[in-house]
Amino acid sequence: MKGLILSGGKGTRLYPLTYTSAKQLIPVANKPVLFRVIESIHDAGITDIGIVVGDTADQIKAAVGRGGRWGIKITYIHQEHPLGLAHAVKVSQDFLGDDRFVMFLGDNVIQGGISELIEQFAASKWNSQIVLTRVANPERYGVAELNENGQIKRLIEKPKQPPSNLALVGIYMFDHHIHQAVDNITPSWRGELEITDAIQWLVEHEYQVYPYVHRGWWIDTGKREELLEANGLVLEELTPVVEGYVDRDSEVDGRVTIENGAEIINSVVRGPTIIGERTRIVNSYVGPFTSIYHDVVVEDSEIERAIVLEHSVIRDIPARIQDSVIGRNVTLARSPIKPKAYKMALGDHSQVGIL
Ligand code: DAU
Repeated sequence: MKGLILSGGKGTRLYPLTYTSAKQLIPVANKPVLFRVIESIHDAGITDIGIVVGDTADQIKAAVGRGGRWGIKITYIHQEHPLGLAHAVKVSQDFLGDDRFVMFLGDNVIQGGISELIEQFAASKWNSQIVLTRVANPERYGVAELNENGQIKRLIEKPKQPPSNLALVGIYMFDHHIHQAVDNITPSWRGELEITDAIQWLVEHEYQVYPYVHRGWWIDTGKREELLEANGLVLEELTPVVEGYVDRDSEVDGRVTIENGAEIINSVVRGPTIIGERTRIVNSYVGPFTSIYHDVVVEDSEIERAIVLEHSVIRDIPARIQDSVIGRNVTLARSPIKPKAYKMALGDHSQVGIL
């Protein structure tokens, strides 16, 4: 079997972070979501993986490379415009050939990996297997309606009146019949070739599409709140490792990971939390559900339930920073220069909540 990861698209819901970088490269518990996706496909024994890339191709190629670090082969597939998930399959036809494959959206994080599902599909004669999970807001996703035997009756993309609360998770398994399906559908109201419609085509043409209902957590990290939630859930499952330095005046509990070269000086760090390589936490408090990435400085400040990306500085902030995502190379500090005022240089679509 082959793997196909979709890593094109624009990530508008994560602006301003994604003005300058691919949403699939934003780290959750200090590891880019895309790396988590690659690893879960690799864990299922698949070593031939195609990645569909768009505008952010250069960044994705720079971060992932040819796959040597995982011992896998990566092929990049260029999609000129994000014209839909089924369009991404279309442009990948040369790479996929007639092989069975698993398609994984590059911004999805799922509990427990997918090895079992892949094994199940590889051993079956099904034409497709889809993953469903119960959600509170099905209108935001592709939705499945099942019949009394648990088989798929109908699939609809982002319905105004959802027939069930079973959403399509961004993991799909197909055999070569999907190519015929994507060639036979037309763009949806949002102008995209929807994979949901292609699967519906398979169902209508009596191909075997098997639904698997996932019971653990699953998060599409498309928005800030979802990113923070995914971060917390992944941190809770992390096995803590302390490779950095903790001085005698600091208090660090057992659920904290401190990466190589990080320093905790006269600070309190409560887990589950991860402190990245060469990051310095000085005279500060870092609370649960926080991921601070590499080369960050946090000094004389308090932060909790947050994600901070590389090379940022947080210094001498009088109130606790919470429920926040802070990008790369950001400086958040008190200014001694008069007049005494909030002085900001914020990117488009930034959001700041002030006390
Ligand atoms: O997350 C699950 C949902 O993903 C499913 O429930 C929906 O049925 C499915 O259509 C999809 O919905 P989204 O609207 O959330 O998809 P999004 O546009 O966010 O794209 C998902 C990923 O695929 C993202 O990493 C970008 C990539 N992508 C997207 C498009 C439209 C591509 O690589 N090429 C594309 O043309």
